[in-house]
Amino acid sequence: LLLLTNASGSLRSHLPPGSLMLIADHINAPQRSPLIGQPGNDRFTDMSAAYDPELREHAKKVARAHNLAVGEGTYVWALGPQFETPAEIRMFSAWGADAVGMSTVPETILARHAGLRVMGLALMTNMAAGLSEEALTHALTLQQAQLSGERAANYLGWVLGSLAQVESLRS
Ligand code: HPA
Repeated sequence: LLLLTNASGSLRSHLPPGSLMLIADHINAPQRSPLIGQPGNDRFTDMSAAYDPELREHAKKVARAHNLAVGEGTYVWALGPQFETPAEIRMFSAWGADAVGMSTVPETILARHAGLRVMGLALMTNMAAGLSEEALTHALTLQQAQLSGERAANYLGWVLGSLAQVESLRS
């Protein structure tokens, strides 16, 4: 089981900075793959339920039990390291993305190839380019991550501490 976390830019007003979002699916915008050059037919990895639905349901249940607002949505991978342009963010928004970031997608592809179950949690550190007056800086994303880190860590602790409640993980 692989639990991935990241800092993201939010494309949705209902996910302001500080929000947590369970990743339900992703968009590999650069169309790059860590599986290029892998031998064998298992490189044709199924990505149709890449973010484990049962683990996500569990994480949602834990959030409800602790009265914690945790969203759910689609993460789009932007290669970076520069931030996006407002035009790129409008395009990603039209594609159905809810959060944008520079990680997680290649990790998830590799993990699925290796047969791991994946859970992804995104912390919104800023509104994406063009969606707020504020200029985007790395310092600002770090600052917001600091502010929300403890809440996110507590939540992850609750989720991990109760994994035994997940039916398919019971031995
Ligand atoms: N874009 C890309 N990656 C990010 C952002 C963003 O706005 N915020 C945190 N990581």
